[in-house]
Amino acid sequence: MLRRLHHEQPESFAFTPANQAWAEAQITKYPEGRQASAVIPLLWRAQEQEGWLTKPAIEHVADMLGMADIRVLEVASFYFMFQLQPVGSVAHIQICGTTSCMICGAEDLIAVCREKIADKPHVVSTDGKFSWEEVECLGACTNAPMAQIGKDYYEDLTAESLGKLLDDLAAGKVPVPGPQNGRYASEPLGGLTSLTEYESGKTQYNASVQLATDLGDTIKRIDGTEVPLLTPWLGKNATSGKAQPPKPAVDPKPANKQKPVRKVPEDDSKKIAKPPVKPAAEPVAPENTKKPRTMKAPRKSGADDLKLLKGVGPKLEGVLNGLGFWHFDQIAKWNAEEIAWVDDQLSFKGRIERDGWVEQAKILAEGGDTAFSRKNKKGEV
Ligand code: FES
Repeated sequence: MLRRLHHEQPESFAFTPANQAWAEAQITKYPEGRQASAVIPLLWRAQEQEGWLTKPAIEHVADMLGMADIRVLEVASFYFMFQLQPVGSVAHIQICGTTSCMICGAEDLIAVCREKIADKPHVVSTDGKFSWEEVECLGACTNAPMAQIGKDYYEDLTAESLGKLLDDLAAGKVPVPGPQNGRYASEPLGGLTSLTEYESGKTQYNASVQLATDLGDTIKRIDGTEVPLLTPWLGKNATSGKAQPPKPAVDPKPANKQKPVRKVPEDDSKKIAKPPVKPAAEPVAPENTKKPRTMKAPRKSGADDLKLLKGVGPKLEGVLNGLGFWHFDQIAKWNAEEIAWVDDQLSFKGRIERDGWVEQAKILAEGGDTAFSRKNKKGEV
């Protein structure tokens, strides 16, 4: 099956405020320069919000992560879990067609989908409510045949029970997920044959069905307000209640002509920057260090893209700008004492020299390219 962008695309994409806050928080999980690692979670949240991945959504994620659009499209088109075409407004039905389910009647379920939704997979029904596809084993083989609808599994299905599920969903109901034939979980249909003493401890539903029914609506599109935004990797919870919209972002580089980079909420940037952006004015200079000349703002021609220096990612670029460094020719002039000063501000322990920033900056300031900057411009890093 060809996986490519759909021929009809919306004009634009934006995360809901709570999803945007969530996405920015996920990016802080990764070290400086490795923000691209957040590409799959961000694409997934975009799909959870919209139902499918649109071209503007892919571009939005690329912008947030400072990645080339094509790199993000490569990820989106590689993984079948990403829907590259519109899906039903109520639900996209995923029927498992692998061995156990096939033996137990998956073909009958697919026939129901063909009849009630559309003759072909990935085609939205005439009422716009449903779409379907056949997928590989979803790991619920003991409850075959089964389907995933929204975030939940509907198991032990028959053509009749799937047909009724679709009717209920079309009528605005959210049917209880889990086994549809009276089984509690995956025990024998005739009841337990061993460990029967545990029979009496049963709750109404098994744990995953209970969780789904507690949540209430498990096929809704995700807007980020469903659960609190927690960021334990930052040392403590970012918010204690529901997810909050992001605070005004810090844009360290107003005149940058390069691809926009993600904006980090103020709170997050304080937590993850090591050290945080310090005012350029009054840092204390330890012995054998000297503060280089700094600038309050970039020149009118615009700041240089400091990310072309090997070892400088979007976050670090913001820190450098915060210290008053905007241009390659500034960095190219640093002497040993000045390197020591900057190194100290960044707690880098010699990384500036190890990565050869000054040598790289000299080449870039003269309009040349380094091996890294060449790759960077081609979107290969
Ligand atoms: S074969 Fe269908 S869930 Fe495994």
